[in-house]
Amino acid sequence: MDLKAFIRDIPDFPSQGVLFKDITPLLKSPEALRTTTERLLQMVNGEVDIVVGMESRGFFFAPILASTLNAGFVPVRKSGKLPGKVVEETYALEYGQDTLEILEDSISKGDRVLIHDDVLATGGTAVATCALVERLGGKVVQCNFLIELEFLKGRGQLNGFDVKSLMRY
Ligand code: PRP
Ligand code: MG
Repeated sequence: MDLKAFIRDIPDFPSQGVLFKDITPLLKSPEALRTTTERLLQMVNGEVDIVVGMESRGFFFAPILASTLNAGFVPVRKSGKLPGKVVEETYALEYGQDTLEILEDSISKGDRVLIHDDVLATGGTAVATCALVERLGGKVVQCNFLIELEFLKGRGQLNGFDVKSLMRY
């Protein structure tokens, strides 16, 4: 099945000059949803204790993967959304910066963590998430993406990590 056929290009979204990769057709098709899940799971090697997904679009597949891998799901969220004690990492955006948070008690020392997000672009989100996981003592066993925008060179920011993606542009 050609999963790229379920990715819709939206010009000038969310801002002028950006070609947005819309995955909602892939989510809506039962066959594409199942095939995507199967292929993401095939990329995983070894045991996983926790799947971490990043708000918002990392939340589509991360819990599905966790459920099949017999792992738990842990959300990484944007600032101010998580209850309780958090650790935070600030990362650079094209203009400005943003902060991601994880609950301090959500990962135990030595946990094997799979990180999943829909898109790897510049890598800022994934680098910050890896840093959060490592600060809590987790071991990042893989960073796993649906889509990799190769021209933005995010992979180069994730040196030393096992980076896998299903579709590349
Ligand atoms: C998008 C995408 C990734 C991130 C990739 O999320 O879902 O999480 O950007 O970009 P990067 O590699 O340059 O960090 P966004 O922050 O737009 O928010 P959303 O997931 O809530 O839509
Ligand atoms: Mg996102």
